[in-house]
This record gives sequence, structure tokens and C-alpha cells, in this order.
Amino acid sequence: MPIMTVTEALKKRRAIKEYDPGFVIPEKDINELFAKTLLTPSSFNLQHWRFAAVVDPAMKTRLCEASWGQRHIRDASLVVVLAGNLDAAESASEYWRHAPANVQDRLVPRIGKFYEDDHQLKRDEAIRSASLAAMSLMLVATEMGYETCPMIGFDAPQVIEIVRMPENWIPVMMITVGRGTREPRPKPGQLKVEDVAFWNAFDGEPVR
Ligand SMILES: Cc1cc2nc3c(=O)[nH]c(=O)nc-3n(C[C@H](O)[C@H](O)[C@H](O)COP(=O)(O)O)c2cc1C
Repeated sequence: MPIMTVTEALKKRRAIKEYDPGFVIPEKDINELFAKTLLTPSSFNLQHWRFAAVVDPAMKTRLCEASWGQRHIRDASLVVVLAGNLDAAESASEYWRHAPANVQDRLVPRIGKFYEDDHQLKRDEAIRSASLAAMSLMLVATEMGYETCPMIGFDAPQVIEIVRMPENWIPVMMITVGRGTREPRPKPGQLKVEDVAFWNAFDGEPVR
């Protein structure tokens, strides 16, 4: 498979909603998909992301029902349920175990203090990190020749129950991955650079 540039992958990736239900992604590709996704950055290297790789047809059907019948969940070969870990900071010593001792001694207690009792910050961070991982996963899948669709149209309590998500993890997104059967429609209405980017501050001149 020819290597894609990042720009090519960004252009190729679209939200694909129709998949070949008979196609099975090889396990080694699923492993590669996650291994590359783990290169994603996270605050303090806390790696808040956790993934349920749902391939079981009965589980996919249940997830489809918990998502108001969105059929791409049933038909895609793989449905990744991305969770964010609210307690990531508590395991900071594990994520810094290969750092020099003086770095660990300085940083790990600081991480604990930074998040201490701030539930909103912990939640923001879990969603931020897992969302960055979601984008990595979609780009890697694109490079590997698969189609994807990011999704938040699901009933969170039901999804938590179906994938048996541990307490203190939150569902961030689902991503369907598979072999698409239909070309995407043209993009419906994209903003331009000057609509979204401003020099130095948000009341600055638009970037053109
Ligand atoms: C966070 C997020 C949630 C989304 N949720 C859904 C969803 O529940 N169902 C769906 O079919 N598409 C969903 N989409 C796909 C968007 O509709 C799609 O990305 C958008 O229209 C832009 O199209 P494109 O991805 O092809 O560029 C979601 C996209 C994002 C980023």
C-alpha cells in the first residue's frame, strides 16, 4: 500500500456511514491501528484513552440499538468505543517510570496537585486526550485503507453497560472502522481560514 502524506490522509478521511457487513478486518491490522494511535500526545503523558474494540456481531447490534439504530455501527467491521480515564493522574508514577529518578520525584507529585479534586479539569483532560487519540486513529485507519466515522450519537448509560466500562471512565466517542461501500457526498459547507483564524487574539484581523 502506498504511504500517504498527512495532507492526503486528511483529505481522504470522510465520515463514512455505509460499510460492507461481510468484511472482516484482520486482527493484526486492529493491533497496528491501536499501536500507532498510542503515539498520540497527552497532558503529562497521562494517556487517558482506553479502547473497546467491538467486533462481536451481537455486541455491535446492541451498540447500534443504543445509538438510535445508526446502521453503520452494525455493519462496520470494527466499532471502537473510546473511553477517557478520569483517574489517569493517580497512575502518573506508572506513566513516568522510565524517566530519570529526579524527574519522577519532581513531576509525579506535581501532577497529583495539578488535578487534585478538580473534577471538571479531570473530565476535560479525559475528553481532550481521547479526542486527540480518536483523530490519530482515524488518520491511521485511512492510511491503512479503511473508512471511519466518529460518533457521539449514542445513549451513554446504555453504551457504558454494553461494553462494561469501568467506573470513572467516561464514553468519549465511538468510531466505526471498515470497508466503505459508498463514496462520500461533497462537503456541505466548510468555513474558510479567514472565518476561523485571527492574528494574535480573537478580535485581531482574520488570517488570509
Ligand atoms: C464528535 C463527532 C461526533 C459525530 N457523531 C456522529 C454520529 O453520531 N453519527 C454520524 O453518522 N456521524 C457523526 N459524526 C460525523 C459528522 O457528521 C461528520 O464528521 C461531519 O458532517 C463532517 O463530515 P466529514 O467527516 O465527512 O468531513 C460525528 C463527528 C464528530 C467529529
